[in-house]
Amino acid sequence: MSDNTFRKPVRKAVFPVAGLGTRFLPATKAIPKELLPVVDRPLIQYAVDEAREAGIEEFVFVTGRGKTAIVEHFDTAYELEATMTARGKSLEPLEPTRIQPGNLVTVRQQVPLGLGHAVWCARAVIGDEPFAIFLPDELMYGSPGCMKQMVEAYNEVGGNLVSVLEVPMEEVSSYGVIAPGAVNGALTEVKGLVEKPKVADAPSNKIVSGRYILQPEVMGLLETQGKGAGGEIQLTDSMAKLIGQQPFHAVTFAGRRFDCGSKLGFVEATLAIALDRPDLGDDVRAMMTKMLG
Ligand code: UTP
Repeated sequence: MSDNTFRKPVRKAVFPVAGLGTRFLPATKAIPKELLPVVDRPLIQYAVDEAREAGIEEFVFVTGRGKTAIVEHFDTAYELEATMTARGKSLEPLEPTRIQPGNLVTVRQQVPLGLGHAVWCARAVIGDEPFAIFLPDELMYGSPGCMKQMVEAYNEVGGNLVSVLEVPMEEVSSYGVIAPGAVNGALTEVKGLVEKPKVADAPSNKIVSGRYILQPEVMGLLETQGKGAGGEIQLTDSMAKLIGQQPFHAVTFAGRRFDCGSKLGFVEATLAIALDRPDLGDDVRAMMTKMLG
């Protein structure tokens, strides 16, 4: 399964954050979905922390109308910091929001034509390097983080990788699904990829779950990619064309995944993370026990 050619390190990551977030209206009318907080950190912060842990140095945000606040979140808030310092308050809660000057790049997706189109909008920044993609509404929770596990796999097999998890067969139609080949521990060879298949046509119940490491050649494929499932330009369709040309594997994440693009997933993430927090867990558990009678 391995590709022994020289592998460039994964230094850049694309965060597509230009979607409309219609499933969360009215909350997302004026506030980007990616800034909705799970406990006390916005979704985008969890993704950026996971990227940092995996060695990502350059953060490329694909934004759109109404998404500027996401960039503000990672900016220096001079007045806030000066006031907090004057009042003797610790600036520690702001530490994760600091990105090295010059390492945050934004590109604009003028019209949300789909995930594939959003990724293609970052092509000039990516150039000829492999890159990671994070969908921030998929909150991957575990240590080591999902992308760190994927980078470790990439260092062994190279090529392209997606993170996958198994769902009940009746749920596959909402996701990208892999046709699995040989399995080696957490690594599965990918023989095919299909976006939102009918249950009867799905090649497996292993769905792609919001994390990717791709070779830059995918950008050339996206350039001419037509609309796919849901009338959107699908990343899955261009990735499928790489299979057979370059190594392509799936990594089963050893950790928990919360689909924070859905209301139920968002509530689940909030409860699970609050329960797991050393500073909150006991109080939240007591509160929930009382609530549930
Ligand atoms: P979703 O499928 O969750 O779409 O996109 P959405 O628009 O954010 O949310 P709903 O379905 O209307 O509620 C997955 C990720 O891809 C980004 C989104 O911002 C999200 O992070 N995306 C999607 C784009 O950046 N551009 C697009 O054209 C579509």
